[in-house]
Amino acid sequence: MVAIRQNSYQHIEARPFAPNLGAEIYGVDLAKPVSDAQFDDIKQAFLDYQVLFFKDQAEIPPELHVAFGKRFGGLHAHPAAPTMAGHPEIFEIHATKHSKIANGEFWHSDVSCDEEPPLGTMLQIHIAPPCGGDTMFSDMYGAYDALSEPVRRMLDGLTATHESEHIYRGRYADRGRNDTDIDCPVAVHPVVRTHPDTGRKALFVNRTFTTRINELSPSESDAVLTMLFEQAEHIDHQIRFRWTLNDMAFWDNRCCMHRAIWDYWPEERKGRRVTIKGDRPR
Ligand code: SIN
Repeated sequence: MVAIRQNSYQHIEARPFAPNLGAEIYGVDLAKPVSDAQFDDIKQAFLDYQVLFFKDQAEIPPELHVAFGKRFGGLHAHPAAPTMAGHPEIFEIHATKHSKIANGEFWHSDVSCDEEPPLGTMLQIHIAPPCGGDTMFSDMYGAYDALSEPVRRMLDGLTATHESEHIYRGRYADRGRNDTDIDCPVAVHPVVRTHPDTGRKALFVNRTFTTRINELSPSESDAVLTMLFEQAEHIDHQIRFRWTLNDMAFWDNRCCMHRAIWDYWPEERKGRRVTIKGDRPR
């Protein structure tokens, strides 16, 4: 059972989305510079809730979106994705009736194949389908906590390989991105990471990028990863967010995964994403 957190913020309103994770944030206008006092509350709420949904927003000018992201740290450059014209720090999410794939359709933590995967991601949706196009989030603290003690002990000290060639190569060709010049990252991370700010342990494997557990035989690795993916994706740890135009979501890749639902074809969905650099998982 997860205790519902008390709203103790002075300069924003945080309405819990579910007992395990997520909060809707009211009283902040991201289309204007954010005050230091509001920023401090947002930073705390981000650690408390893992994913924040900023409601009642106007379209955020790209410069302000980038500036808001930079207040949390340096910005992360996606190894393969197309960027917005004139704004190389912004990754544009865009699915239309011509799309062959949409972004983020399988459970993942963003770019976990990087040596230093992103701390967090800020996505504003500014063209939304009439219905559908929800995003799901899953609580990786909860997924870890719900494992039995013997399994938690077994995972201690194990590492996993996260690869991306199978995901990124050719992925954005239909959006004009020639990727012959890029190397698709590969990294080794602990199977369970400790969040650098909260000190809590979180499961850190995902179906998109994690290909094997290094210390186990191939068949043991397959069996354990299947169990851990099911644990990480269990409905008990999930929420499903329904977007309203110009909502902005800000998620913590260190302790939650997400998955975008592409159920709206041939309708269009478009958003801008700013991603903040993270540190090496420990
Ligand atoms: C992503 O960044 O993985 C996509 C999320 C979304 O489009 O809702």
